[in-house]
Amino acid sequence: MQNGLEPSPEEWDTWTRQVLDFVCKAPSPLGGEGWGEVFVPEQPLPGGLPAILELLAHGFHEAIPTVSPGFMAYVPGGGIRSAALANFLGNIANRYTGIEDQAPILVGFENQVIGWLCREFGLPDTAFGILTSGGSIANLTGIIAARVQILGDSGDFSKARLYVSDQVHHSVQKAAFLAGIPKNNCVNIKSDDVFRLSMPDLKSQVESDRQEGLKPFLVVGSAGTTNTGAIDPLELLADYCRQEGLWFHIDAAYGGAFVLCESGKTKLKGIEQADSITIDPHKGLFLPYGTGCLLVKDRSSLLKVHSYEADYLTASQRDSPASLGPELSREYRGIRLWLPLMLHGAGVFRQALAEKLELTYWLYEELQKLPVQILCKPELSTIVFKPGDLAERVNSYGRVYLAPTKLRGELASRVCILSFRTHFEQVQACLEDIRKAL
Ligand SMILES: Cc1ncc(COP(=O)(O)O)c(C=O)c1O
Repeated sequence: MQNGLEPSPEEWDTWTRQVLDFVCKAPSPLGGEGWGEVFVPEQPLPGGLPAILELLAHGFHEAIPTVSPGFMAYVPGGGIRSAALANFLGNIANRYTGIEDQAPILVGFENQVIGWLCREFGLPDTAFGILTSGGSIANLTGIIAARVQILGDSGDFSKARLYVSDQVHHSVQKAAFLAGIPKNNCVNIKSDDVFRLSMPDLKSQVESDRQEGLKPFLVVGSAGTTNTGAIDPLELLADYCRQEGLWFHIDAAYGGAFVLCESGKTKLKGIEQADSITIDPHKGLFLPYGTGCLLVKDRSSLLKVHSYEADYLTASQRDSPASLGPELSREYRGIRLWLPLMLHGAGVFRQALAEKLELTYWLYEELQKLPVQILCKPELSTIVFKPGDLAERVNSYGRVYLAPTKLRGELASRVCILSFRTHFEQVQACLEDIRKAL
């Protein structure tokens, strides 16, 4: 090694070949001692990179199989390889993309994809956004934007109230707390019989809170919920929030990407009226973990929170990611979206998303022929049904991987079809294995 950390050209050549060789082969299960020990060598590990890759292979093998075509647990995505390659390039180049004029073309590529997303979601020209590490941080950034816009920056949030459905993802409640809103001020509104936020309950809660002198500032809708894929009544919520002067944030971390296909777009009508939207490209755009996104109707709402000046910063920061989100130094996240979109074109993403909806509907029709109780008709690509104790048996057959959930306190089986690798063959296998497990 030239100076301890910089490889020589020969070493670089060998390393990249070894890593590529490694990713081309399926990780193999390995035995071994001491996996649980905290172990950081002072000197290079004997055996070098091949030995390190063996350790990694073991770790990959022992993790739940998120890249399997049969993975239908939680909210899958799969992780397209072109994005992994983009990430590798971004890290090798290691350019500074927090401030626009330090890497104007690279930041420009990132801005292009954010602008493209704004258009796909039907947002106005004033809209923009920021790429985040995931949906949780996008929700946090959205809630802080709402808080500053509606409540100002006095720092007294003791009376601030926000409203979520009882099906909301817990990251929203966590984000509200991180944003300084007392836990009890995040109000759970009952969901209706199809697990959507109930408008009458929301209205009466907001009204009675106002009468008590509290300060409603935000309603969070889900599109769709993690548990069932239910889409809250987005158009009604948008109208109501506009009338009441409330910020309307939509957590579309799971379902937002479906706007890219016609059938999904119809279901998500009203999303274009949100003040802010969380989406999660590491779910619905099939990217590797670590890519979320917040879109806002008005870019100035992000600037208001995040734009600062300092002697060591340059003047032209308006289009800088650092002025739109909480990070300054950051990885070049945009490349993970931009390169795959350039390489594959948006069309394959649209087709893959439409396919997921069709596969889910097919499975739903087939499940109705079995002795199961479907707990709600799928809106997107999730089906929840009883009995709730099937996952372990289904998983033991080794073809598909499911995780159970709890719906209104009761254990339920859940299938979520969202990996770009999942096609008819795997959904058919899922049906066969559910049948066998029953
Ligand atoms: C609806 C919803 N919102 C937010 C999140 C949190 O996203 P992340 O895990 O990317 O932080 C999830 C994760 O599954 C989700 O399903």
